[in-house]
Amino acid sequence: MRTVFWENNELKMIDQRILPGRFEVRSYHGHKEVAQAITDMVVRGAPAIGAAAAFGLALAGFESAANSTSGLLADLEPAAAVLKSARPTAVNLAWAVDRLMTVAGKMKEERSADQLRQLILDEAQKLADEDVKINKRMAEHGAALINDGDTIIHHCNTGALATVDWGTALGVIRTAHEQGKRIHVFVDETRPRLQGARLTAWELEQYGIPYEIISDNTAGYFLKAGKVQKCFVGSDRTAANGDVANKIGTYMLALAAFDNGVPFYPVVPASTIDLSLAHGDLIPIEERNPQEVLGLEFEGQRVAPQNAKARNIAFDVTPHRLVTAIVTENGVVYPPFDVNLKSIVK
Ligand code: MRU
Repeated sequence: MRTVFWENNELKMIDQRILPGRFEVRSYHGHKEVAQAITDMVVRGAPAIGAAAAFGLALAGFESAANSTSGLLADLEPAAAVLKSARPTAVNLAWAVDRLMTVAGKMKEERSADQLRQLILDEAQKLADEDVKINKRMAEHGAALINDGDTIIHHCNTGALATVDWGTALGVIRTAHEQGKRIHVFVDETRPRLQGARLTAWELEQYGIPYEIISDNTAGYFLKAGKVQKCFVGSDRTAANGDVANKIGTYMLALAAFDNGVPFYPVVPASTIDLSLAHGDLIPIEERNPQEVLGLEFEGQRVAPQNAKARNIAFDVTPHRLVTAIVTENGVVYPPFDVNLKSIVK
């Protein structure tokens, strides 16, 4: 089953907030609900939120009562803005919405309003289908970097749940496993929302890939002990110079990998590469509700004192000097990234 899919005139999404305890698929009928679901992380992961926003825009088309294509486009503009602002860091969100708006704008003279509504839905479906194909291509390129017997550290969740299907970094691991390579995965638990411990571990169980969950602060220990051969992570936005914004904690993992000579590979669809940003310090970084940090419980008790304050930075930027190579659907890109990334973004 896909993470995000269109069925019976509704958008359906697996609710990732409650996995692995409960598996539930929710239905969405309006673009505002979809934007809220992205903000609340019912759906998460850069490619998955891009696809969700695309279907959200299709829903906005059906919500509009406009009879003319110019009226429909006028109604879509604010809906596009609402969807794009649901989360700031993953560029896939704006990329997906802009792609659909561009297609709709180009066809507005040649179609009726209803035909344009259908066209937007078809384009959203196309984008979702392409995501799966892109992931499989990235997985083939990335799997070639994995040797039989490798132990790999993986951060956050980059699997089928973070995409429409298959995954980015976890998709690479999955493909290498299917090729018969024996792999062990150390799963960073990924505080505070625990995408690793909850979602990546749940996926690896299903694929039959051996893994152990480690607290995020354990990665350095295993890297220094020589127990890890590679690190694979995803990215929410990669700048033109190869700086990689990904889930908070990725930077510390990259530092420890670099210090111990362990290759560090972000797996990045071209839709995640933002050539308009020269370097990673320009990437907008999401800060989420401190309650996600403060609400953690230990042995049934809230960890933090009642009046405690917290900061909940959701992403960090790994400088390109710590990145060994970037895996894309168009091949593995090596430094200098400011030169070589340009040639793979079509
Ligand atoms: O906050 P999340 O769970 O949406 O963050 C997801 C990640 O950081 C992933 O690594 C990233 O989206 C790229 S992989 C699909």
